[in-house]
Amino acid sequence: MAILTRRNLLKASAVAGVYGVGLGLAGRFNNAEAAPEPQILKTNKIQANISGDGITKDVLTYGKDGAPPVLRMKKGEPFAARLVNGIDEPTTIHWHGLRIPNTMDGVPFLTQPYIYTGGTFDYAFTPPDAGTFWYHPHCNTLIQMGHGMTGVIVVDNPKDPEFDTEIVVNLRDWRMGGDNQFIAQFKPRDSAKSGTYGTVRTANWQIEPQYDAPSGGLVRLRLANTDVTRIFSFKADGDAAVIAIDGNPVPKRFPLDVLQLGPGQRLELAVRMPDSEGAFFAINDVHGTVPKTLLKIRAVGTSLKRNIGDLAALEPNPVKVIDASTAEHLPLILSATAEDTADNSICGSLGYSFWAINKVPWPGDTPDPTAPLAELKLGKSYVIDMENLTPHSHPIHLHGMSFTVLSSTVGPVPPFVSDTYLIQPNEKVQLGFVADNIGDWLLHCHIIEHQKTGMTSYVRVV
Ligand code: C2O
Ligand code: CU
Repeated sequence: MAILTRRNLLKASAVAGVYGVGLGLAGRFNNAEAAPEPQILKTNKIQANISGDGITKDVLTYGKDGAPPVLRMKKGEPFAARLVNGIDEPTTIHWHGLRIPNTMDGVPFLTQPYIYTGGTFDYAFTPPDAGTFWYHPHCNTLIQMGHGMTGVIVVDNPKDPEFDTEIVVNLRDWRMGGDNQFIAQFKPRDSAKSGTYGTVRTANWQIEPQYDAPSGGLVRLRLANTDVTRIFSFKADGDAAVIAIDGNPVPKRFPLDVLQLGPGQRLELAVRMPDSEGAFFAINDVHGTVPKTLLKIRAVGTSLKRNIGDLAALEPNPVKVIDASTAEHLPLILSATAEDTADNSICGSLGYSFWAINKVPWPGDTPDPTAPLAELKLGKSYVIDMENLTPHSHPIHLHGMSFTVLSSTVGPVPPFVSDTYLIQPNEKVQLGFVADNIGDWLLHCHIIEHQKTGMTSYVRVV
């Protein structure tokens, strides 16, 4: 009998399909050799100097101090992490954008129990896709994420082209007063509009940080919008090409003009540094009226004279293509609501309902006793016909499966593969996907106040 090594275990799961369908989770980790030592992710309440001029109390993070660590995984290789809950309320971890088994998805009650104070939970999975992803709790999220618990994940692909430097950036705001202490995380009247914005804007928990990279070199810049509210309009001051959005290579790279990304979304750029030493490349947010510099990269040394055009294309992720001829259409209408269901909410209820999906103001992260929005058949193709009847943009996120943007009333769209689509007011968009992952998968707006006041639902794949 053959000895089950990591290598042939991976082969075995490849034969059974990306998710090891029919093999089950136990089958994928039925061998101690295959599951690596878990990385410990301990939630903690800390103090941190975020504004630059004083200590903020009650900051929440993973780890002992500072921002949550950037987690590095390898495409197609097992990863394991142990959540140890050191804060005084229940939590879980959701791995945003990773197409992993449902039991690992981190949604309380829907996919796993609460992890109470002092408790632990072992997450173990094999990321099928390479790219930039992120992790965050799925419990009392406005506070837990708002106070710091948002971290970036990089899934490496050994076949990626070679850059001279890589910079990973966690973009987020903080809602604090002049004394550097947290203030109320939301105002109901803003939740009923575009959401409540932070007061201090940071990149990697610093205001306008500066990094170094070789002059004339190529930087792989990974930007993750982990904020609970803010939509960015990224603009480069310098030479940059978009190579991936939301963890998936774009069909054809293009120069960064202005690109809007909502909460939950990620942008990967190939940056060509200026040739002269001391010159800067910068990323700005030109969303509102006052443009804001988010970070700067300074050119150091003599020019490497590299060229973005010489970079090989990124390898596409193994996301299935839909069969348009048999695809079933699922209408998904986003609207405001006046109906009050707020009392049913748990897991960080805000006590209001302002929003609805298909006219239902959903009670919160936990759908029970509400039935799923739709029951999908494993392996079948679906097209979500999503329509935004509200005057606000919504970054709608689907757990567990990636979709392809098929068409939009806003104009021609490249067939982006993604897990989060920022739908504009009055837009209608078609998102196609193959229901290839069994389980209950949340579908919600990633403006957390919207999610928590009606704009959360789920689909069931059986
Ligand atoms: Cu970023 Cu429900 O997730
Ligand atoms: Cu929304």
